[in-house]
Amino acid sequence: MIPNFNIIKYKTVSSTNDKAKEFLQNNEPENFTIIITEEQIKGRGQRGNYWHCEKDKNLTFSIVIYPNFLFASKQFYLSKVVSLGIIDYLNTKKQGFKIKWPNDIYYNDKKICGILIENSIFGSRIKNSVIGIGLNMNQDVFPQNLPDAVSMKNITNKKYNIENELYLLLNYILKNYKNLKVENFEQIDKKYHSHLFGINETLEFKDKTGTFKGIIKGTLPEGRLSIQISENDIRYYNFKEVEFINRF
Ligand code: BTN
Repeated sequence: MIPNFNIIKYKTVSSTNDKAKEFLQNNEPENFTIIITEEQIKGRGQRGNYWHCEKDKNLTFSIVIYPNFLFASKQFYLSKVVSLGIIDYLNTKKQGFKIKWPNDIYYNDKKICGILIENSIFGSRIKNSVIGIGLNMNQDVFPQNLPDAVSMKNITNKKYNIENELYLLLNYILKNYKNLKVENFEQIDKKYHSHLFGINETLEFKDKTGTFKGIIKGTLPEGRLSIQISENDIRYYNFKEVEFINRF
């Protein structure tokens, strides 16, 4: 099924998220407008990082949606359903992809996809949302400063038609998003936790007090990560407050 995505293609942009926001300011883009580019010069990542992607090789796009039904306090569910859509798509090619909290997609210990969601809040609800996705598809090699990056081609030894894959991926994202619209929060949590990197494993973490061992138990509705340190000590972390260091 190919739904009515409004797809706007560019050869080069600075950042598809920035382009999407420009559209939101000036053009009232339709729900599910997709801004996709062959080349992105100033790709933005989480924590103010630069997102690297080689021209013509990868899926580099942003989705504009209006999730007005969603309370701002539940905005992390957007991140959950988008990650799950990407996981469902990737699992059609190969098994074993994981969501590294909050929303990176990994294959073994390497990152294949980054997501940057920028929400605009009005009152207690989400007015609009720009969902930026960078999925490494056909790139063979990555710069030395990105030793953890990997592409679908690296993993499956196949070359992909970027446009076809965009449609396939969008359908999986849409399917998971529909689950959010009908407020299947419990089902979404269950699925998200079943794909969560490191869940129920003893891992080494770092927070502002230093390094420690703990077990990821899951996420709270607002997105905090719960880590069990001992029988009576469970800590809850916001994004950026904790860093995963090592497996044992
Ligand atoms: C991250 O893992 O740090 C998030 C990376 C998000 C990158 C995508 S590429 C398309 C969209 N446009 C941007 O400027 N960033 C996102």
